[in-house]
Amino acid sequence: MIQLQLADPAATDALGQLLARTQPATAVVHLHGDLGAGKSSLARAWLRALGVVGAIRSPTYTLVEHYPYADARLPQGGKALHLDLYRIGGPGELEFLALDDAAATLWLVEWPERGGDALPQADLRIGLSVAPAGGRAASLQAGTPAGDDWVRRMPETPAYRALLTSTGRNIRQVTDL
Ligand SMILES: Nc1ncnc2c1ncn2[C@@H]1O[C@H](COP(=O)(O)OP(=O)(O)O)[C@@H](O)[C@H]1O
Ligand SMILES: [Mg+2]
Repeated sequence: MIQLQLADPAATDALGQLLARTQPATAVVHLHGDLGAGKSSLARAWLRALGVVGAIRSPTYTLVEHYPYADARLPQGGKALHLDLYRIGGPGELEFLALDDAAATLWLVEWPERGGDALPQADLRIGLSVAPAGGRAASLQAGTPAGDDWVRRMPETPAYRALLTSTGRNIRQVTDL
């Protein structure tokens, strides 16, 4: 598990960019945290870093938004799903969302607890919470062998080192095993 302190919204964006740069070609990511913890901010920065242009709406009412993106590792291109299940009536409703799971290459899921077993298993679980000082605490925890590989290699990447030494040092690593 990796734990980070994100002092300001720019730090949350930088983490989203790092995750986009280090993610495997296909990934399921669950975003845990209360309202206002920064889940949508992180997802937006992630999608932008994948090259998504145009509006990135919060799927608060639609429950899901679809975003095609380019990825050299995926000949057909990538298809990201950004879900926010806060308002879902129950896991059964997921069936009606036209998720096209087979084609989805990246799942970014807010309020995954509410999707129950109908959601694919998380490769990476991200926890976000408001820190007493006002920033955010973030934890990254693998849920599959692919996620484990991702989390293990991440600290070795130039993108991760750049993140921790970025101007202002607004990101601090708390622990890293
Ligand atoms: N590291 C941070 N420190 C302080 N404020 C942050 C940080 N990251 C994000 N925020 C702010 O917190 C709010 C989070 O909103 P949002 O991303 O919609 O949360 P959620 O999707 O979890 O409900 C935004 O106003 C954002 O600017
Ligand atoms: Mg949100």
